[in-house]
Amino acid sequence: MTTLPLPPGDMGRPLIGETIAFAQDPARFVAERRARYGDIFRTNLIGAKTIIMTDEDALAWIFAGEGKYLQNKWNGSTRRLLGEECTAMLVGPEHAQRRALLMPHFRHSAMRAFAPKIQAISVRHFDQWAARGETTVLTAMQTLVFEIIVTLLLGDGADVDISALSKLFRAWTAGIATLPINLPFTTYHRALRAKGQLLAAIDAIVTARRRAPEQPHDILGALLTVRDASGAPLSHDAVVHELHNQLFAGHDTTVTVMTNLMLQLAQHPAVLARARSEVRELAPPSALLDLERLKQAPYMNAVLHESMRYLAPVSGTFRIMLRDMAYKGYRIPQGWTVRLEIAGTHTHDQIWSTPFDFDPERWLPPREEQANRQHSFIPFGGGPRLCLGVNFAWAEMRVMLALLLRDYAWQVAPNQDLSYVMVPFPRPKQGLRVRFGRADETL
Ligand code: HEM
Repeated sequence: MTTLPLPPGDMGRPLIGETIAFAQDPARFVAERRARYGDIFRTNLIGAKTIIMTDEDALAWIFAGEGKYLQNKWNGSTRRLLGEECTAMLVGPEHAQRRALLMPHFRHSAMRAFAPKIQAISVRHFDQWAARGETTVLTAMQTLVFEIIVTLLLGDGADVDISALSKLFRAWTAGIATLPINLPFTTYHRALRAKGQLLAAIDAIVTARRRAPEQPHDILGALLTVRDASGAPLSHDAVVHELHNQLFAGHDTTVTVMTNLMLQLAQHPAVLARARSEVRELAPPSALLDLERLKQAPYMNAVLHESMRYLAPVSGTFRIMLRDMAYKGYRIPQGWTVRLEIAGTHTHDQIWSTPFDFDPERWLPPREEQANRQHSFIPFGGGPRLCLGVNFAWAEMRVMLALLLRDYAWQVAPNQDLSYVMVPFPRPKQGLRVRFGRADETL
């Protein structure tokens, strides 16, 4: 195996490698190198020797290798910010066991029961946006999605102070994409301090909930009642860190998709009009939305898929090689990083026609560009580490989008930069200011 060559590529400058070009736009970074070197190439990202593989077989190879020849890799600062005791960080049998305990509570059927709450919270927020007349979508969406995820995880009891949690959460997540310099005046230092306070606040909620005579149907209730094969409950620390992790995992991702959707729909009025008329046909005004019917709405779902293809909210994740392996004639060495490439797969020109265009028609007959392909659309990853919240995210996004289409209207406000920043999440640089109102009012 050691006689095999490394994949072709350029390791860039000493230390920083090609990190700057990558961070400007991961999908275009991959497209340019794929044109130069083919589907497998090497680079240096954030100081790590990295191999990027962008063919669909490679994704299957990565999913199959979990715990055998590779495992998940997080950089040191994210690890410190998230802590070790949660699904995203666990590896091997501990990871599999935690997922087996949690999965039943994230099934589609469990999310169906939660949909009316998502609707009630969203309507309250959208009505407030409409009353204000103008709003910055990114920050307003952050507030809305935070309330939804907190309600799913911790419930809506009196002991849950959403606005206090939200402040700590923002200070904590501000540290994720900064330099990990822990000095009193740095954002990273403030993030670590906020992490401690957030954990303490969650800890207090968990402790209070233990005294409840009956556990409500939220994720905290589930975490307190699950038992492993030997009948043992999760430790107190595991419950607190699991909630802390999911608060993080389930927030900025959804915010990103919804903010981008509102811009893309405003920029494509014909798409907006068609999606609106489809939703209005299947969802009578002011009625409770039916998640099953929303799941069947072909055009609205094409729009949602296309938005996550066009700008993958998570552009990719990383794995570390546990031993030397051969892949398609190349050596993939132990200790190197392998990237699970999402944005590059979603813009692969052998799968998608004009991949850098926003075009929902590609999901519908007669084109159906991704039909019969297994791993061409992977916004939630796949294999043993498929996003735990995938069903929740779909339910949440479908309900929010259907409400926006059925009941509200928005227009991009003038004099703003609508270009995107790509890292850590692809979003409109200035947060997208819109004029917003109810659909039956003039904006
Ligand atoms: C549009 C919304 C979302 C997107 C695009 C998304 C995407 C992802 C991706 C790409 C991964 C990593 C997979 C890997 O490394 O192979 C992941 C993992 C994860 N996500 Fe999500 N996610 C979303 C929403 C959510 C929500 C709402 C929750 C929780 C309620 C959640 C909880 C998790 C957890 C716990 C993991 C770790 C899974 C593991 O390592 O086993 N996510 N997600």
